[in-house]
Amino acid sequence: MDLGLSDKVVLVTGAGSGIGRQIALDMVAEGAARVVVADLNEAGAAQTVAQADEQGRGVATAVRLDVTSFENANSVVSGIQAEHGRLDVLVNCAGAWRVNLFTDSKPEDWAFEINVCLMGVINCTRAALDPMIAQGGGKIVNISSDAGRIGEFRQAVYSGAKAGVIGFSKAVAREVGKSGVHINCVCPGYTKTPGTAGLTEELEARIAKSYPLRKIGVPSDVSRVVVFLASDGASHITGQTLSVSGGYVMV
Ligand SMILES: NC(=O)c1ccc[n+]([C@@H]2O[C@H](COP(=O)([O-])OP(=O)(O)OC[C@H]3O[C@@H](n4cnc5c(N)ncnc54)[C@H](O)[C@@H]3O)[C@@H](O)[C@H]2O)c1
Repeated sequence: MDLGLSDKVVLVTGAGSGIGRQIALDMVAEGAARVVVADLNEAGAAQTVAQADEQGRGVATAVRLDVTSFENANSVVSGIQAEHGRLDVLVNCAGAWRVNLFTDSKPEDWAFEINVCLMGVINCTRAALDPMIAQGGGKIVNISSDAGRIGEFRQAVYSGAKAGVIGFSKAVAREVGKSGVHINCVCPGYTKTPGTAGLTEELEARIAKSYPLRKIGVPSDVSRVVVFLASDGASHITGQTLSVSGGYVMV
């Protein structure tokens, strides 16, 4: 199936590692015209571009982006618009979290998680909507989490931020659908990435056992779904939330 991504200009945040990196690589593999690899971690973003260039197409570029800054998000999107004349796909994948009991956590922990996981999505979405509305359409895919659907032990504020991403995405989908802009959420379950490194094999096995498909995820499990939602295949889908977690969450 031709996914219709070949003339598309794509921006992926948090693309310097893990799930975001795989999304950027898959977008290049699917023939996107340009893939902008954005991350706070410039070395990680450069590594993603180097990996993408191994595919021989030379369409990926790295940019430093701190999603917690609206000004920064706006200037990255303006730069893309100036260079390529459009922005077709935004994937909000940047994320960061702290694992602790809510009763042990501090206001600084709460602000950190809300700023990266919720405000980051709000900042980048607002910046991307100007070119998307002006050009008559676009696709936004937000990486939320199963934590945002059912709540995760020791991740209270992160769960709240990710639930916020889902509600925000639905509301924006209602507002911008008439302009041809689609906005959907993907909720990974536990997925093996640098961000989740450090779990013991025993704990990973316990998590896998709680998933109907009896395995934990890898970045490509998530990226394939994101690519679909960003593609022409999702021509009549907006405001939806899809878990990618081996059946762990069914709603
Ligand atoms: N891995 C999982 O089990 C899992 C489960 C559910 C949801 N998620 C979500 O998937 C996304 C990717 O997670 P991952 O496991 O690949 O993590 P990761 O740590 O491997 O990658 C996250 C990337 O986001 C970047 N980032 C962090 N703060 C940023 C900021 N302020 N501005 C720009 N970039 C920033 C980091 O530098 C990093 O490159 C996150 O939104 C995360 O919440 C992951």
